[in-house]
Amino acid sequence: MAILVTGGAGFIGSHTVVELQNAGYDVVVMDNLANSSEKSLKRVEAITGKPVKFYKADILDREALEEIFANEQIDSCIHFAGLKAVGESVQKPWEYYNNNIAGTLTLVDVMRKHNCKNIIFSSSATVYGDPAFIPITEECPKGQCTNPYGWTKSMLEQILCDMQKADKEWNVILLRYFNPIGAHKSGTIGENPNGIPNNLMPYVTQVAVGKLKELGVFGDDYDTHDGTGVRDYIHVVDLAIGHVKALKKIEENAGFKVYNLGTGQGYSVLDIVKNFEAATGVKVPYVIKERRAGDIATCYSDATKAKEELGWVAERGIKEMCEDSWRWQSNNPNGFED
Ligand code: NAD
Ligand code: UFG
Repeated sequence: MAILVTGGAGFIGSHTVVELQNAGYDVVVMDNLANSSEKSLKRVEAITGKPVKFYKADILDREALEEIFANEQIDSCIHFAGLKAVGESVQKPWEYYNNNIAGTLTLVDVMRKHNCKNIIFSSSATVYGDPAFIPITEECPKGQCTNPYGWTKSMLEQILCDMQKADKEWNVILLRYFNPIGAHKSGTIGENPNGIPNNLMPYVTQVAVGKLKELGVFGDDYDTHDGTGVRDYIHVVDLAIGHVKALKKIEENAGFKVYNLGTGQGYSVLDIVKNFEAATGVKVPYVIKERRAGDIATCYSDATKAKEELGWVAERGIKEMCEDSWRWQSNNPNGFED
């Protein structure tokens, strides 16, 4: 039996394929390469020494999905495939709702027809909106999302929850990620944003490598220890291992479960700059800018539930996250084009 990893050529997906193969799972990847390169999978193969079975296919393409499920013995699906650029989702809401929601509906329909009813879904801390309390537990009510991307996550959570309620043969695990950064120790796979990065760490590493002049810090007047936004940064390898643990939970008939995957520790933007400089010895010039629309002051997790129920804790600290992000960026200034 194999695990289908949708979006497996992407940032979190490729790291998860490494951990799945290391744990002995057979993996089948499907990805339309809309935001990734097949080269990431070649590098995964070099890391694990095992071939990766790959289908270039779209989750909106029912026939392609049917073919995969007909050819492969798929037991469970880890569903990463989706568009994720917050700003772009405001400009192209239809594309985001169609890709993420219609795509997932097509995927789960084909899954159930093939009697594959185990799914781990990539959700996000964004579903908490401006969180009702900090640190955020899974009991924290979902909030108002500030963009269509966030709504696709929130709506898909509801859809998967309702499907599991109606048909108890489904096992559904929603994993709410906090802010994934870092890269595999080899420095051969990592985050490869298109164009100018929106997220903090890729922006920092591109300034450090000389591709961008300086970091813009979005606001220094938040109610935080230094006025800049606080987030829960989590090493992508810890996040990937969280999926392997979730798969074990699925194998025990999980039913419907929701877990935060974070470290429980908040760092401000300036904390990240300082930690990055200390870890790498490279200066990151920055200027203070206006607040970015839709940002909140503070977001970090209480990840106790994942520890108690999955036996998972994030083990990699901020120094390692910075070192590993930098190794990837400095070895591959142009991502997978190098
Ligand atoms: P990514 O863009 O690197 O990976 C997503 C992959 O999905 C890409 O390889 C892309 O080509 C593929 N894809 C997109 N639409 C597809 C479609 N219709 N059919 C097939 N493949 C398709 O992003 P990532 O950072 O690895 O994120 C993985 C998942 O985790 C996404 O669902 C994302 O929304 C979610 N997530 C990411 C973050 C983050 O900060 N990176 C935080 C919370 C949740
Ligand atoms: N920031 C800057 N300058 C930049 C980029 C970011 O100051 O150039 C600041 C932001 O204002 C924020 C912090 O750095 O305070 C983190 O911003 P990111 O864009 O890296 O991450 P977000 O917390 O805004 O959002 C990310 C993903 C979302 C996801 C969320 C929670 O982009 O999709 O984490 O998982 F939902």
